[in-house]
Amino acid sequence: MSKIALVTGGTRGIGESISKKLKSSGIHVIANYASNDDSAKKFASESNIDVVKWDVSSFGECEKNVSQIYEKYKNIDILVNNAGITRDAPLHKMSLENWEKVVSVNLNSVFNMTSLVINKMRENQFGRIVHISSINGQKGQFGQTNYAATKSALIGFSKSLALESASKGITSNVICPGYINTEMVAAIREDILKSIIDTIPNKRLGESDEIAEMVQYLISEKASYINGSTISINGGLWMD
Ligand SMILES: NC(=O)c1ccc[n+]([C@@H]2O[C@H](COP(=O)([O-])OP(=O)(O)OC[C@H]3O[C@@H](n4cnc5c(N)ncnc54)[C@H](OP(=O)(O)O)[C@@H]3O)[C@@H](O)[C@H]2O)c1
Repeated sequence: MSKIALVTGGTRGIGESISKKLKSSGIHVIANYASNDDSAKKFASESNIDVVKWDVSSFGECEKNVSQIYEKYKNIDILVNNAGITRDAPLHKMSLENWEKVVSVNLNSVFNMTSLVINKMRENQFGRIVHISSINGQKGQFGQTNYAATKSALIGFSKSLALESASKGITSNVICPGYINTEMVAAIREDILKSIIDTIPNKRLGESDEIAEMVQYLISEKASYINGSTISINGGLWMD
């Protein structure tokens, strides 16, 4: 029987590539999204992947939807915590609202989703969990105290989870992408983006598919000895 994967934020950008890549390896994928119905519809009709709309920052919504997924599909073998947002401002100008929004979407969601699937994975003695962090969680970034704090936190979360879950056949790993060619990066001002690309040793943005390839490997049976790792994919911009 096919393995079942749930990809949060799985209908656009990096998540879209991850969903499609996992489907291409014979996995049954469920892609979650928050609000962009047009993108989700287009994605679903092109890919034939099931999409489910809910806000992963709400524990209640996660609980309801994860339980419906278990009813319908019986299992979740693979969780990719990919959903994430930015609300940039230097700390001296950052509102409490933008601090809390980023913490709840990027970090609380990871508690919500992972805590709701971990017990069944432990029972099954198998699970693959991949968290999408960021280079800016490794090195910090001007204007991103909120975003960088959440992305660093995923690394500590994942390592602790790996320690707790290794004996149950579950792995937990983090990928830290550098600058990837998605709508999130397209939102950066053109002159700033150009100056960022100038600093990247590989002199280009990464592609979503390059992140998806790594996820595909990490969730495979072959990757059972990769656990608690933090994998940088950033064109040499930060060597950690
Ligand atoms: N792009 C980069 O260069 C880059 C670099 C490093 C790390 N990352 C990380 O990679 C991940 C994906 O980034 P991306 O560039 O692909 O982003 P994106 O193109 O903006 O797509 C974000 C996806 O997350 C979903 N999402 C956002 N908030 C959500 C919520 N509250 N509940 C459920 N789904 C939610 C969106 O749903 P809707 O379509 O409904 O909005 C969308 O499917 C993020 O965690 C980001 O921090 C990205």
